[in-house]
Amino acid sequence: MACGCLVPNDGISGSRDGPGGGHFPGKTTLSGKCTICHGADGKGNGPAAAALSKHPADFNNPEFWKGDVDKKISDIVRNGRPPMPAFSLSSDEIQTIIDYMKQSFKK
Ligand code: HEC
Repeated sequence: MACGCLVPNDGISGSRDGPGGGHFPGKTTLSGKCTICHGADGKGNGPAAAALSKHPADFNNPEFWKGDVDKKISDIVRNGRPPMPAFSLSSDEIQTIIDYMKQSFKK
């Protein structure tokens, strides 16, 4: 699936704040790497989303949180699933993202 989706880094800075606030290290990682597609509010409406061949998942959807979400999230972040790229993050970094996502988006 050729789609040139590896988005440029411009405009992706840790200053793009997500909802929730609080001192979650995962917030910075998520803001820097994920919100460009997934949106600061996790709805899948980030600035790059419109250019993707598939709509990014909506993390606010209760369906998303069914099953083994820790594994689901860590698998896709490690391996990617086009058009979502893989990320080389440590297990700790991935865990902080998962914690932050639970804190912010899980209903
Ligand atoms: C280039 C855009 C892009 C970026 C950057 C991106 N994603 Fe995604 N993501 C997607 C798309 C598109 C999908 C939907 C893929 C599908 O339906 O097959 C997705 C799906 C997901 C899913 C849902 C998996 C499932 O089985 O429902 C999770 C979790 C996820 N992304 C987490 C992240 C995290 C965490 C980051 C940052 C480390 C990130 N994404 C960065 C585009 C992106």
